[in-house]
Amino acid sequence: MRSPSPSPVQNPLPRTTAIETVQVLRDVQGPMVAKGPIIRRPKVVAVSERFDLDGRAVRRVQKLTEKYGRGPLVLNVPGRNMAMILDPDDVHRVLEGSPEPFATAETLKRNALKHFEPKVALISHGAERTQRRRLNEETLGHDSPVHQMAATFLPVVEQESLALLDEVRSHGGVLDYDRFLETWYRVVRRVVLGDSARHDTELTELVEKLRGDGNWAFAKPVDTSGRAALLDHLQAALDRAEPGSLAAYMAQMPKGPDAEPVQQIPQWLFAFDPAGMATFRALALLAAHPEHLEAARAQATQEQQSDQAPTLSLLRATVLESLRLWPTTPMILRETTTEVEFVHGVMPAGTSVLIFAPAFHRDERHLDFAHRFAPEEWDRPRTRDDWPLVPFSAGPGICPGRHLVLLLTSAMLADIVQRAELELTSHTLDPERLPSLLNNVGLEFRLR
Ligand code: HEM
Repeated sequence: MRSPSPSPVQNPLPRTTAIETVQVLRDVQGPMVAKGPIIRRPKVVAVSERFDLDGRAVRRVQKLTEKYGRGPLVLNVPGRNMAMILDPDDVHRVLEGSPEPFATAETLKRNALKHFEPKVALISHGAERTQRRRLNEETLGHDSPVHQMAATFLPVVEQESLALLDEVRSHGGVLDYDRFLETWYRVVRRVVLGDSARHDTELTELVEKLRGDGNWAFAKPVDTSGRAALLDHLQAALDRAEPGSLAAYMAQMPKGPDAEPVQQIPQWLFAFDPAGMATFRALALLAAHPEHLEAARAQATQEQQSDQAPTLSLLRATVLESLRLWPTTPMILRETTTEVEFVHGVMPAGTSVLIFAPAFHRDERHLDFAHRFAPEEWDRPRTRDDWPLVPFSAGPGICPGRHLVLLLTSAMLADIVQRAELELTSHTLDPERLPSLLNNVGLEFRLR
């Protein structure tokens, strides 16, 4: 899979024609922006599912690959240098090369995230980024599949999952996304801020409102008083340092003078939303793959009999597959800090580099499992010699929360499937050809 070593060429990179640029904006960027890059707009997601817009986006990128080869391909957009990565090896190269010369602090992303977390690691650079990234890594348990606080977090997931099942049973046995999300956010608030935040739905609403502003990036002025209210609220939680919460765990971490602990928390609250989407879609995958469900259930039961925290590898792989098939961060963005040489030409400094993950995750020209459920793909850690499957990104900018996400989501799935049979009533999934998008908001299950 490795490409031959690049020969130095000083040519500019290939560029799309004006018509191709319009097609990319219409088929790839357009639907993504319309769905909401920072918080999803459910109606647009439903339309995308219905008209297979995500499939159309992948096919558009494939056409460009067929014409231009390995790229990167410069999009002829006036006023901004943008280049799309087409080569799997370049995906690894760009992600491994963060933050220099491929900065995570990309212009569009900075404009979106400044609405609620202007000093978060992801849009910081240099020494500030180093301190903020380290604080996230240490607090979120970046290196460890089982977080140090798992013994406190897992009972929270279990209590809330049981309460959810009771509630569903007493309301006619239908599990829909709204009900699921209410429970999931209770888990998230308790894990991040402590038990006293269990019912703090106002906080979740405020985060959602500011994320809604983030969808408009630079086209909407920052709501500075809303943002200050959010950060004050989170600072109070940090000061309270409620035992058993991530806030308390972070409060006792050593940190540099520019680490900005409070500004890292909105990213966690924000990013647990896609984790809920992935979990609900994973439930649909389980319902559509009964043999895998049985194996996962048996594994959960067996692991719960041991003293160790369960690792639930089959359920973790289910969530990873949910994220491969339907990535919640479909576009990973980087920005060049210097001129960078590629095999086919030179990319100028200040270029936004676009990695459109579905074009790799769903490439049936290279993956026989592109549109199937393939949890075995996650049996071992993937490396840069593998085909890029990057739902959590990769390299030095990889999601530092990934293990924590997989710990909590797999635990929730285990708590649900061990106590209930679920029938997916809203969709019929063809295991040989899973859809290009599965609208989480439209999913519905009947508990049997
Ligand atoms: C399904 C859930 C999640 C997915 C798919 C996901 C995916 C990602 C991806 C793709 C990135 C890289 C973004 C980029 O480079 O622009 C990222 C960054 C990040 N994620 Fe996650 N994430 C998830 C949940 C979480 C959660 C729950 C947390 C915290 C509790 C978290 C913390 C972070 C942080 C702090 C960064 C920035 C890292 C940096 O600055 O280098 N994520 N995530």
